[in-house]
Amino acid sequence: MKGLILSGGKGTRLYPLTYTRAKQLIPVANKPVLVRVIEAIREAGVREIGIVVGPTAPEIRAALGDGAAWDVELTYIPQHSPDGLAHAVKISREFLRDDPFVMFLGDNVIEGGISALIRDFAENDWNSQIVLKEVANPAAYGVAKMRADGSIERLIEKPAQPPSNLALVGIYMFDKRIFAAVDAIKPSARGEYEITDAIQWLIDRGYSVFPHIHRGWWIDTGKPTDMLEANSHVLEEIRPCIAASATVDAGSTVDSRVTLQPGARIINSVLRGPTIIGKDTVIENSYIGPFTSIYHSCQIRNCEIERSIILEDSRVIDIDSTLRDSLIGRKATVQRNNAKPSGFKVNLGDHSTLWV
Ligand code: DAU
Repeated sequence: MKGLILSGGKGTRLYPLTYTRAKQLIPVANKPVLVRVIEAIREAGVREIGIVVGPTAPEIRAALGDGAAWDVELTYIPQHSPDGLAHAVKISREFLRDDPFVMFLGDNVIEGGISALIRDFAENDWNSQIVLKEVANPAAYGVAKMRADGSIERLIEKPAQPPSNLALVGIYMFDKRIFAAVDAIKPSARGEYEITDAIQWLIDRGYSVFPHIHRGWWIDTGKPTDMLEANSHVLEEIRPCIAASATVDAGSTVDSRVTLQPGARIINSVLRGPTIIGKDTVIENSYIGPFTSIYHSCQIRNCEIERSIILEDSRVIDIDSTLRDSLIGRKATVQRNNAKPSGFKVNLGDHSTLWV
C-alpha cells in the first residue's frame, strides 16, 4: 500500500494567508495540516508517500524534506497546472506502479485517523473505497446518490441540486483499475479531470466501490471559518502538555487543558484550554481563552483573545476589546494606536478583512 497526498492548487479562498504560503502548511493546533495528513497515513502503516505539488513546491519541500522526520519516505510529484484530482492520479502512475494506494487531500482534517479504513480495504477485494459524510451544504462537495441496498448509484461533483446530503470526504482508496478510469474520462464543465467522474467510471463498469460512512467530524480547511473549526476540534483531541522549558509565573493561571511548547513564557496571565502556545511565545498581562492556537515566537501583551489562530512572529499588543474568531498571519502586528489624531490606522494586505 502506498500513500498519495494532493498538495497542489492555489488556495484562493484562504487569501491573504495563502498569497505567500501553501494552504496545506497553515497550522491547526500548531501543526501544519499537511503534517497531520502524513502522520495519519503513517499511523495506518503506510510509509511510501507521494506528494503532488504545484507552484508552492519549494515551500512544501523546505518544510517536509525527505519525510525522515516523520519516519516516512516522501516522493515529490510536480503537477504543472491544477487540472484536477484525477489528473493528479494520472501523473503519479510511475510512483504508484500497480500498488493499491490511499489518496488523501492535503487540506482535509478528519477525526480518528484512517487506520481502520486501510485495514478494511486490505481485507476486502474492493477496487475502491470512498468515504462519505453527512453535511449541511452538500452543493460545495462531490455528492453520492445511494441505492436502497446501500451501494452507490451516482457521484456528482458540486451539484446545484444535490441528490443527498452525503459528501465525498477527501480520502479515497484505489487499486490499479483507477488508471484506466482516469485515462478514459474527459474534463468536466469547470475544466478539471474529476476524481468523482473516474470513480463513476468504475461503478458503471461493475467494479466494486465501497462507501464508508464517516461518523466523526471532518473538515476541508478551504476557508478561514473552516480553519477555526478544525482548530477547535483538534485542540479538544490533543493531550495537553507543558514543556519542561516553558515557564508560568506565580501571577498566572493556566488550566489543565493548556499546552505550552518549549520556551513559552506566561506572565501575569490567565489561560483557559483547550489552547496551545507555541515555542518562545510570550503572553503577558493577557487572557487567552478556549480554542486558541498561538504559534511560535509571538508576543501577546495586555489583551484578550478567544477562538483564534495566530501564526508565527506576530504581535498583539494593548488591545481593549476581545479579539475573537480571528485568523492572523505571520509577522503581523495588531497594536493600539495612541498617536493623535485618534482613529484607526490600517496597513492590510490584499484580500484582507478587518471587522471593526
Ligand atoms: O474536500 C473534499 C472535496 O475535495 C470533495 O468533496 C470533492 O469531490 C473534491 O473534488 C474536492 O473538492 P475541492 O473543491 O475541495 O478540491 P480542491 O480544488 O480544494 O483540491 C483539494 C486538494 O487537492 C487541495 O489540497 C489541492 C489539491 N489539488 C487540487 C487540484 C484541483 C491538487 O493537488 N491538484 C489539482 O489539480
